[in-house]
Amino acid sequence: MTTDVEFIPATSENKPEHSAIEVSSKAFWAQTSEQRDETFARLRAEDPVSWQRPVEEAVAPDPNDPGYWAVTKHADIVTVSRDNRTFINGQGVLFDMLPADFLEMSQSFMAMDAPRQPLLRKLVSSAFTPRRIATIEDQIKTAAREVVDGFASDPAGEIDFVDRCAERLPVRMFGDMFGVPEEMRSQTATSAGDVVAWADPERIGDRHPAEVGLAACQTLHGIAAELIAERRKKPADDLFTSLVEAEVDGQKLTDGEIGAFFVLLSVAATDTTKHTSSFTVRAFTDFRDQQRWLMEDYDGRISTAIEEFVRYASPVMTFRRTATRETELAGKKIIPGDKVVMFYPSGNRDADVFEAPDRFDLSRDPNPHVGFGGGGAHFCLGNQLAKSMLRALFHELLTRIPEFEAGEPELLGTNFMRGVKRMPFRFTPEK
Ligand code: HEM
Repeated sequence: MTTDVEFIPATSENKPEHSAIEVSSKAFWAQTSEQRDETFARLRAEDPVSWQRPVEEAVAPDPNDPGYWAVTKHADIVTVSRDNRTFINGQGVLFDMLPADFLEMSQSFMAMDAPRQPLLRKLVSSAFTPRRIATIEDQIKTAAREVVDGFASDPAGEIDFVDRCAERLPVRMFGDMFGVPEEMRSQTATSAGDVVAWADPERIGDRHPAEVGLAACQTLHGIAAELIAERRKKPADDLFTSLVEAEVDGQKLTDGEIGAFFVLLSVAATDTTKHTSSFTVRAFTDFRDQQRWLMEDYDGRISTAIEEFVRYASPVMTFRRTATRETELAGKKIIPGDKVVMFYPSGNRDADVFEAPDRFDLSRDPNPHVGFGGGGAHFCLGNQLAKSMLRALFHELLTRIPEFEAGEPELLGTNFMRGVKRMPFRFTPEK
């Protein structure tokens, strides 16, 4: 963990009873999103910043963990996100408790604070600015077209949407930007998925969740090490080369640091966008009128619509902070060392901000959702890339195979990523 603040231990002093409306049990996370949304609605109404017991069966339980504050209202999520001095990342950002070696290998600058976080973020941020993304717009469009070419005229008219479509575009774009060779891309995507699958029984099988996550990190660091060695010998025009050549405070990054960048970015870039497009085709199936509305003026309406894709999908469910000083949130006294967990899907269904929040309404404007975070130093670095991929992919899908129906999504059983493992997708094939 890297921060300029000394480690502040958590304490159970002066804490209220753990809330009767709980969000820490395995049973809670085994529910459907709709059932969880009902609990979040109760919390927003009755106990918006609630004191919760520690996550049940945490991957690496801490016997001294007194619990955490669950932040469920939109306004409080924004406050916590933007006050990066009071609420820091350097003591961990995940809701579950995970082993230190796993965190070290996977979180990079997401689990850091100033002064190091902005320095490391800056090393890659130029690749993600709106201007830079505009220059690769054609590359993204071509990639989206080729992904849809892969199944649009298939006479069977039925695919697993996640495997044949949703995953392919982000994996390809991420691979292009980092310069990951074709033959390593599928392994990169599988390992990136395993990094965030620690509570999914199907992916874990009879292995310990920590073992799966760690093995995935080691695989990704192995791929990174190979590519770092190559780029040192022969620089290319990609992110690996920028990281190999970069200096922070007069020092080159170590292989381990570049590996952690690679893990953070591979997870952040691929899974999130894949789940957003899966939930979006499902939403088009449930709200038919929205497809018609969008297609009346795709180019004029898609930017507004994409904000609703992300609000409605909310693929990242939680991120945690740690308080560095005494403060108050929704009338609750927060003290140094307290863990504070933001529940983004709850903020995105807050009726004080979003009218009829359960409705998929592509004309919603303004749409100040917290799907990319609530602002502040850690606001999603890849949001422009994600939007550009979604714009290109949905243009292909909605113009070429406008008659489709997405079946019931099979959800990933974790408490971090609201994800789709598989989803049947039936369509009238392109002639
Ligand atoms: C729809 C897709 C996406 C969603 C919903 C999403 C969501 C998020 C969220 C909620 C955060 C945390 C914000 C915070 O703590 O305040 C985040 C951070 C981040 N995202 Fe995304 N993301 C998406 C796509 C991407 C893509 C394509 C990339 C490409 C590289 C990316 C890279 C990152 C990085 C590097 C961070 C950490 C930033 C930092 O700590 O400074 N994300 N994202």
